[in-house]
Amino acid sequence: MVKVALISGSLRKESISTKIAKAVGELFPEGYEAQFVDIGSLPMYNEDLETDNPPAEYIAFRNAIKESDAVLFVTPEYNRSFSGAIKNAVDVGSRPYGQASLEGKPAAIISQSMGNLGGFGANHHLRQTLVFLNMPLLQQPEAYIGNSGDLFDENGKIKNPDTTQFLQSFVNAFVDLINRYNR
Ligand code: FNR
Repeated sequence: MVKVALISGSLRKESISTKIAKAVGELFPEGYEAQFVDIGSLPMYNEDLETDNPPAEYIAFRNAIKESDAVLFVTPEYNRSFSGAIKNAVDVGSRPYGQASLEGKPAAIISQSMGNLGGFGANHHLRQTLVFLNMPLLQQPEAYIGNSGDLFDENGKIKNPDTTQFLQSFVNAFVDLINRYNR
């Protein structure tokens, strides 16, 4: 079974990012298991906490990433960048030095915002950060989901079939990328 960690950059209960992450998780083919990895309980990264007894949340997060073959990030745009929650998770997953659990894992990014631009700034800032961790990134298709307040119906289903079709093509391309690195 190929495991994909789903990370949402928004911590609020009704987060659209989280809903997208979970909806996209269902589009993976047989043989893939998409698992939501919570980042909301991670203490702010502090190197001092690493010395003797790192927080249990750091260890659990790092183990969840280590056990995954790939990572899908869904981020809202916060002030033209990705959310601080994702930055904190990436910082935790990048340490201890030389033992980064995120290192080299294939990854894909979906950004979303309620405005028209679909979190373009968030998407590209996150790319810059993941490059430093040597994570092979899905290049195409790019996923900038704009007007996201209108994405889901009252039953939590994606309203527009074209959007579902686009997300399916995104997942298919991500699966190809994962397969290239997972031999
Ligand atoms: C935002 N929002 C926002 N939108 C945008 O298009 N560009 C931006 O720079 C920002 N900045 C920003 C900062 C902060 C602190 C908040 C809380 C919100 C709007 C934001 O992208 C929108 O609310 C998201 O859809 C929220 O995502 P979740 O929480 O539903 O996943």
